[in-house]
Formats: sequence, structure tokens, C-alpha cells
Amino acid sequence: MIGAECIFLPEVDSTNNYVAKLLLEGELRHGTVILADIQTAGRGQRGNVWQSGSGKQFTASYFLQTAFLSVHQAAYLNKAVAVAVAEAVSAFIPNGVRLKWPNDVLVSNKKLGGILIEGNVKATCLEYVIVGIGINLEHEDHLPSSTSFEDQGMMVSAYAFLEVLNGKLQFQFELLQRFAFQEIQESYLLNLWRLNELQSLERADGSLFYGKIIDVDSEGSVVIESEKGEERFGLQEVRFSY
Ligand code: BTN
Repeated sequence: MIGAECIFLPEVDSTNNYVAKLLLEGELRHGTVILADIQTAGRGQRGNVWQSGSGKQFTASYFLQTAFLSVHQAAYLNKAVAVAVAEAVSAFIPNGVRLKWPNDVLVSNKKLGGILIEGNVKATCLEYVIVGIGINLEHEDHLPSSTSFEDQGMMVSAYAFLEVLNGKLQFQFELLQRFAFQEIQESYLLNLWRLNELQSLERADGSLFYGKIIDVDSEGSVVIESEKGEERFGLQEVRFSY
């Protein structure tokens, strides 16, 4: 069961790094989670730093064995994890949780948290993934464009969040094991930020355009309807403004 084994660390460089280190050292059971109070070198998507040295965040990484998935199905793993996190947040803040493609977690249009998934491919299989999740529990003065559970009027402990998240991840993981991709897709789209809303967007070359997100496809690319028709964008190929 996901989360059945939990290792708590008062301080670590990055919980994702710690899982990778344990993997090098030997056996690590599927579903093991590392929960840390403080990260001294937390990592975000696209090589960004993830500031998490204050002890005011939920910072955890899960080790998941995913060899039953092919690399072409990896996008559904991302979506399933994102849905699990969104549903776990919704257990405390019932309204307004949104997933900003690919997997930022927003509340009231501000970032509550993010997900960093690092995987290992063996032949054509996604052998395993390290799923890192960072959620702002308490208010942080130095992150004015972010939000936290506290900012939303909720005091939530890391353990309370972990317990709910373990269950949501287990449920989504079982969907993956049954290849219930359509169900995962529907839940992802239900939670997707600005689905079918006209918005201003920016291409990688800096040019601006108007378009609507109409889907996120099986490869994980966002599908946008613009005056050019349907366009697909991978990571870093399109920017949204909050
Ligand atoms: C992002 O939005 O850029 C993703 C942030 C992911 C942060 C989490 S905190 C736990 C885990 N350990 C890390 O170093 N990063 C992830």
C-alpha cells in the first residue's frame, strides 16, 4: 500500500534525492514515502529551486514501481498523481482547487504546491518513479504570489495531509494498474485550470496569442484551440499568465 512505509526526516537536501540515494543503496519497497520537515536544496520543475527551508511546507517523495506502464503511458502517471494531489487538497479546501498544466496545484488562482516526478526508463518500460510533492501549509511572507492552507483559513498538519494523500494516491495507482486511463483523464480534465476558457498565451518565441485549452493529450501535451486551429504544445513551448 502506498504510504505504508514512511520515513520521517527532520532535515534533508531534497526528499527526491533521498529516495534516489536509498535506491542506490539497496531495496526500496513500492509505496515508501519520505517526509521531511525542512529541505535545504529542494528542487522544482525545469531545474528551479524549491524553497522549503522554513518547515512550513509539506515536502514528501514517494517511490513507486511502475514497470507495468510503457514510456508512452507515462503522461497518465503524471495525470493520476496530479488528480490525487488535487483531491487530497480538496479534502481540506472543498472549492477552487485547480491543476494548472502540467501539474501545478492552484487555489484561488495562486500556487499552493507543485509536483516533481522523476522516472527511470528500462527498455520500453517506465521502471519506477520518484514522485515529489510540495504543498504550502503555512503562510510564507517571501512567497507573495503563492498561497497556503493557512492563507485559505485552514491549519493542516503534514501528517494529516499525508494520510489523506496516501489514500488518494493508492486509488489513482490502482486505476493505472487497471489501465483505466479514460477515468484518470476525465478526473484530470475536471480539475484542469481554465479548461475551455479563452485566455492570452505566449509562445516560446515570445509572440502572444489568444486560445483555449481544450485537452491534454495521451502524450501529456496541452491542446489549445486558437485562430490557427488546434495546436499541441509540450513543456516550455507555451506560457500562461495567472
Ligand atoms: C514545482 O512546482 O516546481 C515542483 C515542486 C516540487 C517540490 C517537491 S518538495 C518534495 C520533493 N523534493 C524536492 O526536492 N522537490 C519535490
